[in-house]
Amino acid sequence: MNRVVVGAQWGDEGKAKITDILAQDADLIIRYQGGCNAGHTVVANNTTYKFHLIPSGILYKNKICLIGPGTVILPEYFEKELNELLSQGVDVSGLRVSPLASITMPYHTEVDGYSEDNASKGKIGTTKKGIGPTYTDKMARIGLKIQDLYSEETLNEKLDIILPLKNKQLTEVYGLAPYSKDKILELCKKYAEIFKPYVWFDWQKNLENAKEQGSSVLFEGAQGVMLDVDYGTYPFVTSSNPIGGGACTGSGFGPKMIDEVIGVAKAYVTRVGEGPFVTELDNEIGKKIQSIGHEFGVTTGRPRRCGWFDAVTMRYAVLVGGLTSVALTKVDVFDTFDEIKVCYAYRDKRNGKIYDAYPTDVFMHKYLEPVYETHKGWGVNVSGIRSYEKLPENCKKYLTRLEELIGAPISIVSVGPDREQTIFKVS
Ligand code: GDP
Ligand code: IMO
Ligand code: MG
Repeated sequence: MNRVVVGAQWGDEGKAKITDILAQDADLIIRYQGGCNAGHTVVANNTTYKFHLIPSGILYKNKICLIGPGTVILPEYFEKELNELLSQGVDVSGLRVSPLASITMPYHTEVDGYSEDNASKGKIGTTKKGIGPTYTDKMARIGLKIQDLYSEETLNEKLDIILPLKNKQLTEVYGLAPYSKDKILELCKKYAEIFKPYVWFDWQKNLENAKEQGSSVLFEGAQGVMLDVDYGTYPFVTSSNPIGGGACTGSGFGPKMIDEVIGVAKAYVTRVGEGPFVTELDNEIGKKIQSIGHEFGVTTGRPRRCGWFDAVTMRYAVLVGGLTSVALTKVDVFDTFDEIKVCYAYRDKRNGKIYDAYPTDVFMHKYLEPVYETHKGWGVNVSGIRSYEKLPENCKKYLTRLEELIGAPISIVSVGPDREQTIFKVS
């Protein structure tokens, strides 16, 4: 069984928790896009593990965990993450890095920081990890890849093309300092050492073997459908494709490999950074969700904006994300709520027009307000429940209604951060 785990909202849905659980059944776990903008949390054996780039399957032995071709890697951050996991006693012998992954250079983070700090309009609220500038250079065909680090000749040839362009941009557009070729070569030498034990040079043979032997592959997405560069709330998005389809371009496996695409969604919605968010609660209820759900970013520590579940965007995410089922997380956060709202349509405040399909022109979202239906809370602590049948009736009613609204079955219900606090719904 080959599965993709996709964030179905604006990130931080609990993808890592679901990836960790599903990784038990997988032989190969591939992170297919994004970089260290991601912050992924797994709670297992009374320990909290934080991942940014390293696949959340690394806690299991005898599995290959690949940082895939579609990712962008900030070498210093990779090294830091690796050291943190080693200090927690994690065995990283299964870790591999694709030679085709892109490298985030210091000028990428500088440009990201500059753009964010100096934007008078159009600030995106990025994580300042150089994600946008690295993907920009990849698409402009002036990026460096991990494999380049191991050929002096290639590096020299590429840098002769890249550096004059890059330095012109750095100095004339951004007023930043230029880089000498010697400095970049020195950095690349250091990076080559960092990645050396992990680079998967024989990946083609291994992918072929995996297909032939019927290995089970788990594709781990970062961010979420609503942050996808093609389908999200553009331009308030990240610069890659978290959707299910991104698993193919970002891994080297074709679409026919994929059996299931599991979209992870919270029972409410959170968002970090700028951009439209129709169901956002700028009030006491939003604060209550933030406080009970501990909604603060793993990567930047920023408070996450909170709001009610948005079935309009979720239905859209089911479509464009290619979701075959949904893992609904953080259901326990509503244990003490008397009422739970769900947005099933948007209303245009100017003329009363109702939208039940997601309107893709996000600059018009400021005119939209959510249309809610209200569900009774369940008033029971569900965090210890381990079977779907034992969930309180009101909780099950709520889940069934969500399935109707979003047009996809809920296959997993998560009732707490721990690996154990998971309910598989057998249909
Ligand atoms: P990811 O980026 O999608 O992997 O999610 P994050 O790790 O950024 O954020 C999810 C947070 O919610 C983490 O702190 C998880 O430990 C936690 N979490 C995951 N599932 C649940 C759940 O069902 N209930 C509660 N209370 N916390 C959860
Ligand atoms: P995980 O994988 C939540 C958001 C940033 C910003 C936008 C662009 O943990 O779900 P970027 O640095 O990617 O150029 O920022 O995307 N963002 C995330 N929000 N979770 C994430 O990752 C995110 N990665 C990026 O806040 O709004
Ligand atoms: Mg996260």
